[in-house]
Amino acid sequence: MRDERNIILIGFMGSGKSTVAEVLHGMGFNCIDLDALIVERSGRTIPEIFARDGEGVFRDLETEALRSLAGLRRAVVSTGGGIVGREENWILMKALGTIVYLQAGWETLRTRLAAGEGRPLADKSDWSKVEALWRRRLPLYEKADLIVDTDDRTPEEVAERIMKAVSRSWELGVTSPGPS
Ligand code: S3P
Repeated sequence: MRDERNIILIGFMGSGKSTVAEVLHGMGFNCIDLDALIVERSGRTIPEIFARDGEGVFRDLETEALRSLAGLRRAVVSTGGGIVGREENWILMKALGTIVYLQAGWETLRTRLAAGEGRPLADKSDWSKVEALWRRRLPLYEKADLIVDTDDRTPEEVAERIMKAVSRSWELGVTSPGPS
């Protein structure tokens, strides 16, 4: 039974959720990228959804995609950075498995976001706005079952940490693995 559980990765844009999910995939987990699922099902890119329909519609599609994962087994789910904003998403994530927050400092995030594309809420012409969004969300991310600092760790080291903490808690039959 414990081998059937899921890991839900949360964290701000640029925290490395997709990369760590890939590493966990290599360790035997199925891998689900919630943003990729939304794109596949809607037939539109995320910037297109934001530009044409607005953030509210994107958030509805996000909750719907999360809800559709009910019954998932032995998977790692990488979520979008804004998943933590709705109470309903927390209920759905908790029902799926252990929620793991990939923590990263603002400098790390900004550097990664500056190098990336396709994120409507990471406006490179106004970093103070992006930083303010990150700060607003911090207390929400911290509601995770497990917090893993990623700043000075490779994705492989982060994945190892997660596996160690999560399998220990699953052995013990508890949800929250405690500090890592
Ligand atoms: C968002 C993060 C993005 C994506 C969308 C909104 C956010 O995912 O879901 O652009 O609100 O933080 P990543 O965190 O994978 O970049």
